[in-house]
Parts: sequence; C-alpha cells; structure tokens
Amino acid sequence: MSGERTTPAAITAEAVASFEDCADPRLRELMQAFVSHLHAFATEVALGEDEWRALIGFLTATGHITDERRQEFILWSDALGLSMLVDALARPPDGATESTVLGPFYVPGAPLRAYGESMAEEPAGTPTWVHGRVLSPSGEPIAGAELDVWQNGADRLYAVQRPEASEDHLRGRYRTRDDGSFAFVAVRPVAYPIPADGPVGRMLAATSRHPWRPAHLHLIVRADGFRTVATHIFDSASEYLDSDAVFAVKQSLVRSFVERRTDDPERPQGLEGPWASLELELVLAPGADAGDVLDPGRTA
Ligand code: BEZ
Ligand code: FE
Repeated sequence: MSGERTTPAAITAEAVASFEDCADPRLRELMQAFVSHLHAFATEVALGEDEWRALIGFLTATGHITDERRQEFILWSDALGLSMLVDALARPPDGATESTVLGPFYVPGAPLRAYGESMAEEPAGTPTWVHGRVLSPSGEPIAGAELDVWQNGADRLYAVQRPEASEDHLRGRYRTRDDGSFAFVAVRPVAYPIPADGPVGRMLAATSRHPWRPAHLHLIVRADGFRTVATHIFDSASEYLDSDAVFAVKQSLVRSFVERRTDDPERPQGLEGPWASLELELVLAPGADAGDVLDPGRTA
C-alpha cells in the first residue's frame, strides 16, 4: 500500500475507480457520481467517527421501522426534498396539471363510485362538492378519464392510519362523463403532521423543523392515450402552504374552497348543514402512460 492511498482524495479516487468495469453504463455513472458526492460531503464537513456511527444508527432504525405498512425510506426522501427534486427533474409537459409527491397513504384499488357520490363512509368533516372537467391541453373534454382520490378527515387521519375505519373511507375512483365532467363529495381536508414517531421525526425535532403539511386532496388522473398525473389540490386557506414539511406545494395546485351556507340554493342533494365547494379543471398531456403508480408502501 502506498502512502498516497491514505489521503482523503486518494481514497475517493480509488472508490470511484472501483466501478470502472461495470458493464451497465448508467449504473456505472450512478455509482461513481454517488460515491464521489458522498465522499465530498464527508470531506466538506470533516465527518467525525461518532457522527458516522449516528448516521448508521439512523439508517438501521429506518430499516427496522419499515414494513409493508410503513415506508420510512420514502419519508426520508420526502422530508429531505429528494422526492420533489426527482419530480422537478422529470419536467412536466407544458399546459398539463402539475404533479407532486404521491405520499405514503395511497392504496390502489379504491372503490369505483358514481358521479356525485360521497367518499365519506362516516361523518368526517365539512362536506365538499368537488366538480369540474378533465381536458386536453387544447381544451377538448376527455371522456372516461379516471380520478383516483384519497384524503384525510377532520381528525387529520387517512383511513389507513385508523385500523377501525372502513378501508373504503375517504377514497374512491370516479369516471368522467362524455363532456369530461366529474363530481364527487369529499370533506374539507385539514393540515396534518407527517408520521413523526420514527427516525425522520427525530431528525425534524433535532433540527427545529415542524412535521406539518398544508391541507390537500390527493388525485391520480388517468386516461387512455394521456400521461397519468399524481397530484394534490391544496386549500388556499390552509396553514403551512409556505412551509410544507415535504416541499410539495406548487402555486398552480392551490385553489380556493368556497364556503356555502345550509340554505344555499346550489346545495347538491344529500348534503346536510354547512358545506363547501371546489371547482377544478384538470389537464392531461397526450402521450403514453409511463406505467401505473405503484403502492410504495404505506407510512401508517
Ligand atoms: C401525504 O400527503 O400523504 C404525505 C406526503 C409525504 C409524506 C407524508 C405524507
Ligand atoms: Fe396527504
């Protein structure tokens, strides 16, 4: 072993070079860039052995808390802004509704519901009439598009976080009619904290960051011949729009929910008491679907 090899720069160079024979060029590029940035980070902060040990402890705890219902690795990606960086690097097609993080509470296979049907299987907050159209960028209605919707209730929780709740509660799939129109009854979403009882929560507390997300509805919109988009609609009246714990707010996705009185003549049949409404135009870009959104594992 030569003396040179033990300098930080020599160790980095040797570790990067160890991937030179990788037959897959993209894998070689990824591994060499990853190792060189990881080493640059450690070198820049002069990473101490105790700090390296703490980092390994965090990774180990992340593995231990992750199972088929909880995905702490994705929560790290969300809380460090990596998920939104990957989203931004994908560069959305012009004119289409913008995407944002999927989040850990999506469960595929929501019940197919009728036009105007409520997603709430039990009282869960202020009923909200969500209606609008799905259009192409040139304004043509898209018939038969699917809206896959999920959200939390006034107790801040998604149904997957409440073992006693019906698994269909606050989730549903809706199809657009021939004129591209859709309507469903949601409840007004509320701000809520991301799961903070694991290593990500410890990091947030140790760095004086809060775990809150602004109120939003989740939607995946799919249609044959168009690119699927997974997105949110944020409530413009919510707290935390300027400090979302996962950096997922895009101005184009912030909308005003209109508060309505019980005696409002536009009240849809079946809605009781005070209610709200939200009108949405969703735009899909033409193109092949990049593959369906997979359940990344839940954080609940
Ligand atoms: C969510 O919106 O459901 C979510 C997104 C990222 C982290 C935690 C929750
Ligand atoms: Fe959410």
